[in-house]
Order: sequence, then structure tokens, then C-alpha cells
Amino acid sequence: MKGLFTLSTVSSEKIIEIIDLALRFKRGETKVSYPGKSMATLFFENSTRTQYSFQMAMIKLGITPVSFSSVGSSLAKGESLYDTVKTFEALGVDGVVVRHSKDGYYRDLDSVRIPIFNGGDGKSDHPTQTLLDLMTIYEEYGRFDGLDVCLVGDIKHSRVAHGNAEVMKRLKMNVYIAGPDEMLDDTAKVLSLDEAVEKCDVINLLRVQFERHSEKLDMNEAEYLKKYGMTLERVSRMKDKAIIIHPAPINRGIEIQSEVAECEKSRIFKQMTNGVFVRMAVISMVLEDKL
Ligand code: CP
Repeated sequence: MKGLFTLSTVSSEKIIEIIDLALRFKRGETKVSYPGKSMATLFFENSTRTQYSFQMAMIKLGITPVSFSSVGSSLAKGESLYDTVKTFEALGVDGVVVRHSKDGYYRDLDSVRIPIFNGGDGKSDHPTQTLLDLMTIYEEYGRFDGLDVCLVGDIKHSRVAHGNAEVMKRLKMNVYIAGPDEMLDDTAKVLSLDEAVEKCDVINLLRVQFERHSEKLDMNEAEYLKKYGMTLERVSRMKDKAIIIHPAPINRGIEIQSEVAECEKSRIFKQMTNGVFVRMAVISMVLEDKL
């Protein structure tokens, strides 16, 4: 199978190569074009950033994006993920980006010959999100080795937390987690958020994923923000160079005080910009058989 499914099987050297190419695309130093090619974005879960930044990346690479809306499609007639992807392959697209709620959904697609780009699978992986997070950190520090990062919030339900932690540890970052006990797992060593804001170079906030919770949270939004959210008061205790990242969408007033989203330490909107360049890098490397 061609494409990008998980970073757990991609070497650290190759990850650095992807980030380096994304930075060159961003600086306008590298230009490539694939006229005549088309790719479809098949999102079986909601998305704004991933779906449309993949489409922007395609447009910048001269590839025609083809949208698919699960509403109004033949999914309602019982068509499977496999048959939907095979249909787009038969229609002649040169690759597909897929987001699906099933962990490792791509293992069911091993007879598909066109490249598949994972736009997020279940609670497992979101490889291009991890890459754009890393690119944003690299732009800030010019290295990964030795940086302290804390993943904050809903670790248990987050594919971003699990994917980021695996790669960040491999890149020799010191990874910690913070949040309510019921949202933590064994991803990394636990810190309190107040310890984390004073210690860490990167605070990696995560969205509280209400749609993945089987039980209602035992606290209201204001209580969550006070105990586990990034407030301006906590920002004031961060190290001078430290930054805040968040995959978004953000729950303003829950895991992040609204004013923090656009404060001087926040890189949340810069991450979205970087997402386009990371996706350009991933698409072009797969099309050139370099990934
Ligand atoms: N960060 C992210 O995956 O956002 P979307 O769900 O909007 O794609």
C-alpha cells in the first residue's frame, strides 16, 4: 500500500526530511507541480482543517481536489468504506485522503493501489497533525532534542496525543501529560498543569472530545477551565520562549480561555498555516516514491 498511514513506521530521519521539505515549500524555495492529477478527500468524520488544508495543498501542487460528502452519498445505502475508496480509484483519482472513526481502518484497504493519506483514524493516529505540530515546534526552537512538552487535557480519547507522544519521544523530547485523572492514560509521566506551565517549552493543549465520552463530565465548563485549562494567569507563568499549540478546533472557555487562543505565546493559527505545507510535502514525497 502506498501513502501515509501512521508515523510509527516512518523513521525519525524521514520525519525530519518531511519537515525540511515543508519548510522549503513555506519559504518558496521548492516548487513542484502535478498537472492532470486529481485526489479525493473522503471524510467519514467531521473536519475543517485537515480536509481543507489537504485541498489547499493539492491546489498549490497543481492537483485537482475532489470533494466527497458522506451526507447524500451512497453510504446511506449501506456502501462500505472499502467500496467507497475502490469507487474513487475506479473513477480515476490519483490518491485519497481518508478520515474514519475505526482505528487502523486502512488495514482493510490493502488491495487499493492508489496512495492513501490518513486524515485521522479512531483514537490511534493523525500523522499530518503530528507533522505540522513538529514543524511549528522546529520553527520556534530549531531542534527537538531535550525539549520538554506537556500534552494537556483529554489524552485518553485523543489520536493526536497518542501519535504526538510516540514521535516526540523518538525525537528525544521529554514528554509529559496533564489533565483530569479520568482523561489520562499511560502515554507519559503525569505532571500537574501548574507544574507543566512552569517547566515546559511546549504546552500541547488538546480538545475535550465530548463526542467520544461515554459518560458526562462531572464538572462544568468554568470548573474545567479553572482546574485543567490554559488561562491568562497560567500563561503568565510560562517560560519566556515557551509556546502553546492546540490541534483545534478549540473549545474556548473550556480547555483554553478565549483570550489565550490569540495571545503572544499561542501558535494555534500558525499551526493551521503550516498544515498546508506539511501536506504538500507528504503528497509530493509519496507521488515521488520518497515516502
Ligand atoms: N486538527 C484537526 O484535525 O482539525 P479538523 O478536525 O478540523 O480537521
